[in-house]
Amino acid sequence: MLNKKIAIVTGCEGQLGNFFSQKLLSEDYQVIGIDLKKKSKQKNIIYKKLDISNFNEVRNFFKKLKKLDLLINNAGVGVYSSTEKRTKREIEKVVNTNLLGTLYFCLEALKKMKKRKRGKIINIGSIYGLVSSDKNIYGTSKRNNSEIYSATKASVIMLTKYLGSYYADKNVQINCISPGGVFNYQNKKFVKNYSKKTPAGRMMSLKDFETALEFLISEKNNYLIGQNIIIDGGYTSI
Ligand SMILES: NC(=O)c1ccc[n+]([C@@H]2O[C@H](COP(=O)([O-])OP(=O)(O)OC[C@H]3O[C@@H](n4cnc5c(N)ncnc54)[C@H](O)[C@@H]3O)[C@@H](O)[C@H]2O)c1
Repeated sequence: MLNKKIAIVTGCEGQLGNFFSQKLLSEDYQVIGIDLKKKSKQKNIIYKKLDISNFNEVRNFFKKLKKLDLLINNAGVGVYSSTEKRTKREIEKVVNTNLLGTLYFCLEALKKMKKRKRGKIINIGSIYGLVSSDKNIYGTSKRNNSEIYSATKASVIMLTKYLGSYYADKNVQINCISPGGVFNYQNKKFVKNYSKKTPAGRMMSLKDFETALEFLISEKNNYLIGQNIIIDGGYTSI
């Protein structure tokens, strides 16, 4: 186990985080999963309950970490109430998790990676960091994405560019994946509307992450830096 490459996946208990963790296990990584849940449902990962938006908790966690090869900054939250009703609490939760939590993890991971002159970070953005969500496709699903979610995801893309270029000469590659909407048994009307608006004619599936993930974690990949890989079935291409 000591010789294995170490990967951290934040938000490891969610839909995408679970998939990323299992994929990395299959690539022979030792996975350290981070989430807010009491326990992990996944076997074979080292689980740590931690709030990524708590600066001191994050710093203490990294103090105990010996080495790190890969970080997937995946934990993120949305808010679905209408913009007119947005509360300060909702805004802060989204900013603290999506933007600050991602930044705290990047900064601590980079200290380790810079020392070893190797490492890769994949931040998870969203197409809603590039385009606004279309309120006409949500109907009564109550899953309308918010202005603050979009703003934080745009920030994640920019964090990736800045930190990616800043640490490029330390043999650390930081990139972002911006996915489209991933199918998870959402409201049928919404799935239909979303699919109709997407050139590929369907929502994203977890499998659709696989090639980009394999590409970004490959040892052969050491010149792709600060990029945002959009996987969305063409949603943002039209
Ligand atoms: N699912 C999609 O359609 C989609 C599309 C585009 C982007 N994304 C992004 O992908 C990422 C994962 O999305 P998902 O759909 O798997 O979400 P999810 O809600 O299924 O999982 C998110 C996980 O993050 C954890 N989490 C939340 N706040 C945390 C915190 N402060 N500290 C530690 N853990 C925390 C939650 O407990 C949860 O297990 C998010 O960043 C999301 O914005 C998702």
